[in-house]
Amino acid sequence: MDLQLKGKAALVTGATRGIGRAIAERLAQEGCDVALCARSPEAVQSAADAIAAAHGVRTFAAAVDVADGAALRAWTDAAAAALGGADIVISNVSAGGGGRTGEDQWRRNFEIDLLGPYHLIDAAVPHLERRGGGAIVMISSTAALETFSAPQPYNVVKAGVINYAKNLSQALAAKGVRVNCVSPGPIWTEDGGWAYLKKNMPDFYERTLASIPGGRMGGPEDVAAATAFLASPIAGYVTGANLVIDGGFTKRVQF
Ligand SMILES: NC(=O)c1ccc[n+]([C@@H]2O[C@H](COP(=O)([O-])OP(=O)(O)OC[C@H]3O[C@@H](n4cnc5c(N)ncnc54)[C@H](OP(=O)(O)O)[C@@H]3O)[C@@H](O)[C@H]2O)c1
Repeated sequence: MDLQLKGKAALVTGATRGIGRAIAERLAQEGCDVALCARSPEAVQSAADAIAAAHGVRTFAAAVDVADGAALRAWTDAAAAALGGADIVISNVSAGGGGRTGEDQWRRNFEIDLLGPYHLIDAAVPHLERRGGGAIVMISSTAALETFSAPQPYNVVKAGVINYAKNLSQALAAKGVRVNCVSPGPIWTEDGGWAYLKKNMPDFYERTLASIPGGRMGGPEDVAAATAFLASPIAGYVTGANLVIDGGFTKRVQF
């Protein structure tokens, strides 16, 4: 299926590895020019160079910590300027979960998982409007949907992400901007969270794996495909949705 993404300009946060990298790669494969960020300047440049070489698209690379709202806004403006505008925004960075619960972790999850997207999207919307509209996809988690791994701030802020996306979708629809969420279940990424858990908490890892009816963890490319679809004009009538990509991991009925 042609997703009609050729020539679009996409901004992806946290795109040097894992799910964000897979999303940037998929969008570039579909013909988007892509702006990437992460905290490591070397990793951002190397990811951008690799994506440009593999897919023949323009890239913009600059390091930014999404916890720094002013810097994230400046990155958004610089990315749109470098790519000649912005059509797609993917909010991907998280401060993570892993059962961490102290006050510092609550603050980090709030600043990175919620204030980050707030600054990113607030800065990006005028650029989308100048193109006559666009698409925003926010990465949440199935941890927002069912109890998972003790009470932890990660689950709470990820629920906030879904709520924010839905409310934004209502507010931005008249501007031609669609806002959707993707909620991945357990996703195996190289050197990522599940690789760590497999080594350090093998029982928890095996229990989790056994509860996935599909019999495997997802790959970042599974999330990237769903994200590219929601970001594309093919999904032009989809807004305010939360697309769960979990191989059947969650057990609730989705009405
Ligand atoms: N993996 C899963 O099983 C899973 C499941 C459900 C939801 N998710 C969600 O999917 C998203 C991506 O997860 P992932 O597992 O792919 O993560 P990951 O492998 O840890 O990759 C995170 C990316 O974000 C960058 N990053 C981290 N903190 C940043 C910050 N403060 N500012 C800017 N960039 C930052 C990292 O580069 P630097 O370290 O260089 O900054 C890296 O490029 C997150 O929202 C996560 O909650 C993941």
